[in-house]
Amino acid sequence: MGVGRWLVLACALVACRFSDRDRPQEEVAPIYRPSPSFATVDNPFEPLPQNMAGGPATELGRKLYADTIMSVDGSLTCFSCHDMRKGGTDGLPKASVASRQNGQINTGTIFNLAFNFRFNWNGQFVTLLDHVNGPLTGKNIMGMSWSELLRRVKSSDEYQRLFAKVYPDGVTIENIRHAVTAFQLSLVTPNAPFDRYLRGQTQALDAQQHEGYHLFKSLGCVSCHQGINVGGNLFAKIGVMGEYFADRQREGRGPLTEADYGRFLVTHNLLHRYVFRVPSLRNVACTAPYFHDGSLESLEEVVVAMGRYQLGRELNDAEVLALVAFLRSLTGEHEGRPLCSPDEQGHS
Ligand code: HEC
Ligand code: HEC
Repeated sequence: MGVGRWLVLACALVACRFSDRDRPQEEVAPIYRPSPSFATVDNPFEPLPQNMAGGPATELGRKLYADTIMSVDGSLTCFSCHDMRKGGTDGLPKASVASRQNGQINTGTIFNLAFNFRFNWNGQFVTLLDHVNGPLTGKNIMGMSWSELLRRVKSSDEYQRLFAKVYPDGVTIENIRHAVTAFQLSLVTPNAPFDRYLRGQTQALDAQQHEGYHLFKSLGCVSCHQGINVGGNLFAKIGVMGEYFADRQREGRGPLTEADYGRFLVTHNLLHRYVFRVPSLRNVACTAPYFHDGSLESLEEVVVAMGRYQLGRELNDAEVLALVAFLRSLTGEHEGRPLCSPDEQGHS
């Protein structure tokens, strides 16, 4: 074979690799296309799509999510820490269930992941397909290996049958990741009062929520929490305007830990210390406690902290209450019901 042939072959292989890596979201679920008609200068947001129904892989992914074969000692399912009745989280400061008492960081929600640009608090994973690796092999999480999972899934007649229905090549590691991802991408929570407002129902927000939305934009919360997920599309430091970690320690909410280094752990760039993915605020009222360290219980405390550390201002009570009221309008629906009821929202 001449050099030219080799080049063609090498390029084909490389292209194959790239397309495989870029494949994720597009092939797993319908691609979400923003609708420019919604976002305007006054309304820099747009509502979540009302239907992101997944394909047949979705049900298979849900079954894997609920199966203890995913954890090395058979003690946990993915739902053990991602409870649909707790906004897709565990409601704990740092993940610690059953045999896993060593949680380092607050459990993120599994809702509306389709609209985040990176995954995990420090943005370690670029695609949701790659992210499955994190929880599956994480020592404090499932503690599994892919080869062992493959062996277990293959040895089940039921899974063999279900995989064969969805994938021509049956049970493979790639297909397991694909099914889990398809399920995760289907978890979208439409019809929050805020989304109904964006669709033109001005009554969907009460006066205090209107005021909160106005403040959210005029104070500058929107400079970080923005886009369709009201966050989840950029990185920012916690403590832009104040010493968050020093104050936390002084207030007895915990000394500095490795997880606090945030994005630095991924890039090893000193400028990325204490930098995190700006979290999506959708359903935030259902996912207390807050921050990567799970150190604040109520939305009121969180909003005060955001004013102080991110904007350099001490917000007054009326501002805090209005902003919290607005945050409560971001609770969407799952299977036709609000993700959490108004009285359990935000623990206050
Ligand atoms: C022991 C508790 C626990 C279990 C069990 C668990 N998770 Fe998680 N999950 C976490 C924690 C903690 C985080 C936050 C990790 C981080 O951001 O560094 C998280 C975050 C996530 C996220 C959100 C990532 C983001 O960008 O916000 C997804 C998706 C997820 N887990 C999927 C899974 C899957 C799939 C399984 C089962 C294979 C699983 N989890 C099992 C604790 C758990
Ligand atoms: C400079 C960027 C920036 C600005 C401005 C900002 N935030 Fe944040 N916000 C963040 C980051 C980063 C986090 C995550 C902090 C952490 O986990 O330690 C966060 C976390 C939050 C959370 C907790 C979410 C969760 O799931 O734990 C809420 C609620 C919140 N912000 C609301 C607001 C409000 C309201 C304002 C305006 C008063 C605001 N933010 C301004 C960057 C910002």
